[in-house]
Amino acid sequence: MRNSRRGAVDPFIVMDVMEAARQAEEAGRHIIHMEVGQPGTAAPQAARHALSQQMEQGALGYTVALGIPELRARIAQLYGDWYNVDLNPNRVIVTPGSSGAFVLAFSALFDAGERVAIGAPGYPSYRQILKALSLEPLDIQTAPQNRLQPVPDDLRAMDFEGLMVASPANPTGTMLDTAAMGALIDLCQEKDAAFISDEIYHGIEYEAKAVTALELTDECYVINSFSKYFSMTGWRVGWMVVPDDHVRKVERLAQNMFICAPHASQVAALAAMDCHDELEANMAVYRANRAMMIEGLPKAGFSKFAPPDGAFYVYVDVSNYTNNSRAFAQEILEQAGVAVTPGLDFDPVRGHQTLRFSYARSTEDIAEGLTRLQRFMAARGAV
Ligand SMILES: Cc1ncc(COP(=O)(O)O)c(C=O)c1O
Repeated sequence: MRNSRRGAVDPFIVMDVMEAARQAEEAGRHIIHMEVGQPGTAAPQAARHALSQQMEQGALGYTVALGIPELRARIAQLYGDWYNVDLNPNRVIVTPGSSGAFVLAFSALFDAGERVAIGAPGYPSYRQILKALSLEPLDIQTAPQNRLQPVPDDLRAMDFEGLMVASPANPTGTMLDTAAMGALIDLCQEKDAAFISDEIYHGIEYEAKAVTALELTDECYVINSFSKYFSMTGWRVGWMVVPDDHVRKVERLAQNMFICAPHASQVAALAAMDCHDELEANMAVYRANRAMMIEGLPKAGFSKFAPPDGAFYVYVDVSNYTNNSRAFAQEILEQAGVAVTPGLDFDPVRGHQTLRFSYARSTEDIAEGLTRLQRFMAARGAV
């Protein structure tokens, strides 16, 4: 059969790590999962309850492409509650996860061959989705002194039609504050480039509140999801906020590409938004895990990292131990029984010397994982 060049994207390495961990488990080993970027908890109870009720009552057929109106209104309300931003629900588009939103955003904003700047390290699928859509990802090699977030000086000499940022970011957990995000938005305006903000980890923040791009401008695309704070990864539901005059265009794309986000998941998502106490209980676990990681990783010899502002990852420079993060991650899995993600997923240039540790699972798992890492690294003579 014929093959397209644009379809030849790289694998998502963390998925390969998950598969290797699964095989080890099948062979009878006990593995601590520090590779997965998802909560160990279920969707909030009231969300599951709302869906089971709805399943008894309705057919759960297609919804309108932009999403159930009550859900769009409730998402708009979240912007009032979280950021004091008055958002018109008409600008909210419910999507099949933030992944579906990326496809819609990139299709709505760019023509084939156009360039979109993304921070490295960064979430790998940005690059692969852009390539699959015949767009050109431009990696920005972010600096440790900027906590691995892009700054205008990284971008001024580059030509691009779009900039995608994430705050809190995956894999670093670092955030852009109001001034840092504002400077990037200003630069995009100067260059007539679209500004896209991935805010999927909002709600999972520790010292300071995350800033939404909507506090600074209406001329942007903001992408979010129920996957992380709302603990609903497999439900495949997220959302996007676009400028008023882009809604109809995105609606037409959504109608044709997806018809709608899963109806069942939209019902559950609406109920999840009122589950404050349960969601904050999850946050208490992340907070405790984060503190343990910040204290425990250096005891295992992993001390080169910036403490995360949000999300549930620590991104560690392991250049003093390896030049091959993939092989190192494999060794850690085989010998320590801990699954971790090699940095190559996030940064093709420098990621051979970094690892991402996720602390999204239970506190017991994190404690055990840290003990195993400390033992493994001590046996290697590293600590
Ligand atoms: C920064 C970032 N954006 C987007 C996604 C995709 O999430 P979703 O489940 O909403 O498609 C992830 C998943 O890990 C992520 O880390």
